[in-house]
Amino acid sequence: MFSAPRPVILDGDPGLDDAVAWLLALSSPELWVLGATAVHGNMVLPLSLWNAGVVLALAGDVAEGVPYFAGADRPLLRSPITATHVHGATGLPAAGLPEPRRDPNPAHAVDFIIRTVRSNPRQVTLIATGPLTNIALAFRMAPDLPDLVREVVWMGGSTGQGNRTPAAEFNALADPHAAQIVLQSPAAVRMVGLNVTMQCIATPERIEQLRALGNRAGAVCAEMLNFYAAFYRERYGLSGGAMHDPLAVAAAIRPELLSWQPLAVEVELNDGINLGRTVCDLYNVTGQTPNVQVAVGVDEEGFFGLLLERLGTLP
Ligand code: RIB
Ligand code: CA
Repeated sequence: MFSAPRPVILDGDPGLDDAVAWLLALSSPELWVLGATAVHGNMVLPLSLWNAGVVLALAGDVAEGVPYFAGADRPLLRSPITATHVHGATGLPAAGLPEPRRDPNPAHAVDFIIRTVRSNPRQVTLIATGPLTNIALAFRMAPDLPDLVREVVWMGGSTGQGNRTPAAEFNALADPHAAQIVLQSPAAVRMVGLNVTMQCIATPERIEQLRALGNRAGAVCAEMLNFYAAFYRERYGLSGGAMHDPLAVAAAIRPELLSWQPLAVEVELNDGINLGRTVCDLYNVTGQTPNVQVAVGVDEEGFFGLLLERLGTLP
């Protein structure tokens, strides 16, 4: 049974795993990428924005005409943090990358999100792979928006351990107030957290499979994931890097690749060791009404099979 492609906006902080995620989205016929919006996070905004243009160029003809926009250059309240130690100084640690094929659209990312969602009520999915600052701003500037988005699929948070701190995952910590605004809004939110993404490791064997695709996209992703693996070996003793953002895109393409649980989730906003923690009420001890569909399991082989298949269709 054929169904119409799902209109999506890619909002992220490219960043190497965002880049792989966006290539997966752009190469998947189930999704119709209406635009990409850059946000502060892994990199400072000017670099996220440049990298957004580079990733669209890397995708080739499937991204022809897809606009990209500059969004928030800092969190709502807290001081900015970055992750250049994970993603490298440029954020896309690979040689031979193309330059952007076009300049960014002069409109602000938040205005693009608001305009696009309003003109396609209950149809647009926001796939967020960075801090939620742009989406929180859109929800505050347009209070009707949370009811008009089809859903927000967010790589962020965790039902357990953090990564940037013992308690907080990077995207949540980088703008905890934005995360709280979005998670507490009426919008339908799917949270793809570290508890599942850390089960999807780009091992040397998987990197070799990417390289064996024989195309530029496979070679670039293999090179970036090789760079990424060094951090994961040193920090976690793992054989490769976690495919955080690509799994969020896979969740929008095939939600059945993950298992989901409706949970009440709150973001810790108090300064201190727990700032940015996504507190997930796994056993509903608070009696709060669940506000988030939280990923609690993943078909790792199914995910990597989808990733390889789709990246293999790119130039
Ligand atoms: O914690 C992982 C997340 O933080 C990913 O989105 C990665 O790109 C970084 O933004
Ligand atoms: Ca990211």
